[in-house]
Amino acid sequence: MCFGMEMITSAPAGSPTLESLRVEPLLTPEFDADPIRVYERLRRTYGPVAPVGLMGVPVWLVLGYGEVLDVLRNESTWRRDVQYWRARAYGQLPPDWPLLAGYEVRQTMFMDDKEHRHARQTHNEALHPFRDGNTAQGWEIRTAVARCTDDLVAALAAESGHVGYTDLCARYSRPLLLMVTTKLFGFPSELGDELVHDLWLMLDGGPGADPAAGRALAAMTRVAAHRRERPADDLTSYMLLTDPGLSDEELGRELFMNAVYLNDITNTMVLNTLLEVLVGNASVRRTLSTGQLEETLNRAVLINPPAANMPFRFASRDVRLGNFWIRAGDVALPSAAAAHQELMVAGPDQVAESMVSTRAHLGWGAGPHQCPSAARELGSMIVTTAVGRFFEHFDRAELAVPPDRLPWRSGPMVRGLRQLPVHYELSRNSAAVGRPGRPSDRAGTWHRWRLRPYRPRVSRGGCSRHCGG
Ligand code: HEM
Repeated sequence: MCFGMEMITSAPAGSPTLESLRVEPLLTPEFDADPIRVYERLRRTYGPVAPVGLMGVPVWLVLGYGEVLDVLRNESTWRRDVQYWRARAYGQLPPDWPLLAGYEVRQTMFMDDKEHRHARQTHNEALHPFRDGNTAQGWEIRTAVARCTDDLVAALAAESGHVGYTDLCARYSRPLLLMVTTKLFGFPSELGDELVHDLWLMLDGGPGADPAAGRALAAMTRVAAHRRERPADDLTSYMLLTDPGLSDEELGRELFMNAVYLNDITNTMVLNTLLEVLVGNASVRRTLSTGQLEETLNRAVLINPPAANMPFRFASRDVRLGNFWIRAGDVALPSAAAAHQELMVAGPDQVAESMVSTRAHLGWGAGPHQCPSAARELGSMIVTTAVGRFFEHFDRAELAVPPDRLPWRSGPMVRGLRQLPVHYELSRNSAAVGRPGRPSDRAGTWHRWRLRPYRPRVSRGGCSRHCGG
């Protein structure tokens, strides 16, 4: 079988193949609770590249920072097109393998070379007007994010009072990102929760992942058709304007991928950033208290990248990586979370003083498939506005459960919180905030927030009724 690859070198005879190695399953309760411990053990056992089982399929998990960068940057060896995947081509994947549905959706992320560059440019151009507060569309999105946080906090105050308990995922970040997605894509809000649920199912490879991907894709195709009929000031319409040749199905697939990043990954980034402040990570809190929100975000991403493991790459030829010979057609899973551990060997607090720039993180990826610049700016703007606004509205917030009992969602790609339960006290003016002025009018007030690290307030038994854990 030919995968369209150039045979430059071949693995030496007798070097172990992926299929011949004993692999330990990656997604275990231990990984759920403490993925870093698992990465460290794999690194000790195998070096910077380790064979692991992903829901019954062997893959190469890339753990070393240098090796991850190499895989992300070298597109002639590491391809994105699923046609390079040997096990798929030979029909060796288990029937109904739950992650396959997502990989079969052909869109920018799974294209190579010229086709990829063209599709990527469409994203960058169409996202350009929304990327920051300096354009009318970007300013409107930013204002909408700020207004939405105010509404959510006002609703919380009305329902639960100025002092109380809440889950910041359900009551703050998730509805916020749903609103942004609805507004940015120009789709009806009825699609909302069902769509988010379907994206989670698909990404985590849970039961029903396949039909969930189908439903989400169908919904996005309907949005594409709707906006072709009635163009408006939204991303869907701008994508059609940038590339009028896109069919409804093609555009639906591109929106589908954007929805994953915007809804799920951006939501995860908001929660992970809030969490690092709440657990009292000193280096993260220091940047927050000096009003450097971008830096707060960089530090949180370094410690806990939302896209913990990036989508598969497929070897186009036999290649040496770490201590192994990877064969043409093998799958590599580059892990940003594992790679970041190398940057943080001295401990996350030391990163503040160390030579390592927090911008060296791989939270946005690297190389030709890294998050497009306009998307990065938009994502950062949403996260910094949501996080900054949070610390304006809340005088106090403390984790309502010990950090080791937080309910994590550790899928093959995303590591994010299912819930972020807190005891809070709203700032006295918060419910009366009403409609904000320009966000910049209020910028920088979060330094007044009382930064207190996590201290247990409730007994283990007492919190389970809130978080189900
Ligand atoms: C703030 C949260 C975000 C994070 C952490 C993030 C992270 C990433 C990462 C890690 C990749 C690279 C994946 C790879 O190498 O395979 C990526 C790609 C991408 N992201 Fe983002 N992203 C975010 C927000 C967004 C938003 C808001 C959009 C658009 C609305 C977006 C659109 C894209 C696109 C189109 C790609 C594919 C690029 C390509 O394959 O050439 N992202 N993102």
